[in-house]
Amino acid sequence: MKVPVTSLVLMIAVLTVVQLSCNSAWAQFIEEEELDLLFGFYHRTCPQFEAIVHRKVKQWVDKDRTLAPALMRLHFHDCSVRGCDASILLNQPGSERKAEESKSLRGFELIDEIKAELEKKCPKTVSCADILTAAARDATVMAGGPFWMVPYGRRDGRVSIAKEAKLVPMGHENITSLIEFFQSQGLNVLDLVVLSGAHTIGRCTCGSVQSRIYNHKGTGKADPTIDPKYLNYLRRKCRWASEYVDLDATTPKAFDSVYYKNLQKKMGLLTSDQLLHSDHRTSPIVAALASQPHLFHYQFGVSMAKLGNVQVLTGEEGEVRSNCNFVNRY
Ligand code: HEM
Repeated sequence: MKVPVTSLVLMIAVLTVVQLSCNSAWAQFIEEEELDLLFGFYHRTCPQFEAIVHRKVKQWVDKDRTLAPALMRLHFHDCSVRGCDASILLNQPGSERKAEESKSLRGFELIDEIKAELEKKCPKTVSCADILTAAARDATVMAGGPFWMVPYGRRDGRVSIAKEAKLVPMGHENITSLIEFFQSQGLNVLDLVVLSGAHTIGRCTCGSVQSRIYNHKGTGKADPTIDPKYLNYLRRKCRWASEYVDLDATTPKAFDSVYYKNLQKKMGLLTSDQLLHSDHRTSPIVAALASQPHLFHYQFGVSMAKLGNVQVLTGEEGEVRSNCNFVNRY
């Protein structure tokens, strides 16, 4: 059954109002209860936690702006496999971090430095999963995105398997598999379209798009859905797989909804970005976000808060690692 675009836009508006009202203190209290995560989780045990994370992220991002998008992506990759449990940080043979799919992830050293300082101030207290979640939130704000409250109490996983990194979408997927993947994480179609908007900043290694610009589906030609001028630009920029290209072709440094306007002009970098505009399940949401920058800004915070709560370990599950790179030996 085809749903008229106007009804879908109306539906998004209603969803937004519902989510706005869900942001009340009462709704946050209920979410806390359901999740076992708490806004005041470290108030007594490590009151400096958020201030330390914020200071360190700022120090590093001030020196290297590219770390802000890198941290957001690292958080997404963490939450995509076994939930937000810092499994991506485990640095051992055969772990997710060692997988081919993880090779362009960055930000590990910053998390290590935050953890080292926290171990001095409040030993064995703050989990690596909470550190990464808080750092990704602060990085988003520093990049010009929204702020959202993060509840804490995530525990660190003890399992990390390289093969499972293949679960994370890499940009070649169709919309059905993206929707199914997000649904498996408890995230809906709105979250998929809104969180893909993280690609309003940051960069991509050319290796991730070379088949799209040179040999689409083995045809020896480019994907016909790319704007010809943009294709020329990409071919000039991406002579080598190891080079980088901006994910947002027009305003790569601004956290804005121009990413969605680019999709409408056939200027999405990844296949998975561009398809959001052409698929009937996602295109009305793209249109709504392209035309309402404030809606994107607000909803990004809501969807990131949801991402940070995916399949978290709490209570006695998992552990609080002393070093984010390794499971505890005791
Ligand atoms: C919807 C499914 C998604 C796909 C298919 C996808 C795919 C990709 C790919 C292929 C890259 C470039 C990797 C490379 O260097 O070659 C990338 C970069 C990036 N992704 Fe995604 N992503 C998705 C969702 C997300 C989400 C949910 C977030 C954050 C909440 C995110 C944040 C980022 C950021 C910020 C970058 C730039 C990283 C940097 O500059 O270092 N992505 N993504």
